[in-house]
Amino acid sequence: MEKLTRDIDKLGGYLKRQGWLFANENITAVEVPGEGNMNFTLRIKTTERSFVIKQSRDYVEKFPQVAAPVERAIRESEFYSLISDHNILKWQMPKLNGVDRYNHVLNFQDLGNGVDCTYLYQKDEYLEETDLQKIMVFASTLHKSINTDVTNVRLPNRKMRKLNHEHIFIYPYIWKNGLNLDDILPGLKEIGDNLKSDDVLKYRVQKLGEMYLADGKTLLHGDYFPGSWFKTPDDIKIIDPEFCFFGRPEFEIGVTVAHLKMSSQPITLIDKALKIYMDSAPLDKDLCFQFMAIEILRRLLGLAQLPLSLDLEERKALLEEARSILV
Ligand SMILES: Nc1ncnc2c1ncn2[C@@H]1O[C@H](COP(=O)(O)OP(=O)(O)OP(=O)(O)O)[C@@H](O)[C@H]1O
Ligand SMILES: [Mg+2]
Repeated sequence: MEKLTRDIDKLGGYLKRQGWLFANENITAVEVPGEGNMNFTLRIKTTERSFVIKQSRDYVEKFPQVAAPVERAIRESEFYSLISDHNILKWQMPKLNGVDRYNHVLNFQDLGNGVDCTYLYQKDEYLEETDLQKIMVFASTLHKSINTDVTNVRLPNRKMRKLNHEHIFIYPYIWKNGLNLDDILPGLKEIGDNLKSDDVLKYRVQKLGEMYLADGKTLLHGDYFPGSWFKTPDDIKIIDPEFCFFGRPEFEIGVTVAHLKMSSQPITLIDKALKIYMDSAPLDKDLCFQFMAIEILRRLLGLAQLPLSLDLEERKALLEEARSILV
């Protein structure tokens, strides 16, 4: 396997061997297109055009000591294949120009100088209504269109699901997990310890974890949060379905709503999100709120922390709400 680097000569050789550069085309610049943790992602600019490549390695790019499923880029490409006949879905994602299955590299249309929506976690940043509409309609269209009734593809993505399961349902509830919550925000450890002592809560979390691991009927993006919503000057696009699988839509929408709450979006906006979704696709609201609670707990107490601007009291209120939903 060839490990890509930013070395322009080597990249040029690699891209020509893939047939991803014309014979007389040269790289003029390479740059990091945006914040990412898991993979090696690079924008390639040439004399003719630009595109984005993404390589998955057997570790997490930002934390090389942490192992990760090496084939995850191929799983991501399988998501693109599954939606390739659905124009509404396809047009809201970058075009997948090519797949190097041997080296686990994807070649994407460059969406240009946008940003992902993680700025929403900053104070007084709100999702525009047109963007909310597009985000929720993408999800409902995906869930309605691609399910086990219409395709024989199953895409279990077992290894990525196991990794996610570990981070969502196990790690946050382990006493000595190596994460000092007081380093994140003084006072958070006491709240976390209190939740970790709740056996009923942990039992409910375990049960929902089993549901996450069970195969479902509906194709999910699998990581549907602001980091996967890419805002360009005139549109919003969906990226990074590397955690995709066939599961329960309530998991997807629960995660989305959790992030709307953690980014302090107005309650009217959150209600609207659910309404837009439920106007076109069925949803078990209770189960959705349970997965929402799970996501809040893991983001506030687990390893995959977000750039939140919530103070201790606000985090405590969210955690208590999450507990009360689950127990
Ligand atoms: N097709 C594209 N066009 C322009 N920018 C892109 C494109 N794909 C990704 N990016 C930028 O690169 C960033 C990282 O991409 P992506 O989220 O797919 O990688 P990742 O390694 O899976 O990230 P994470 O660890 O957050 O899951 C995105 O947030 C976005 O800013
Ligand atoms: Mg990713």
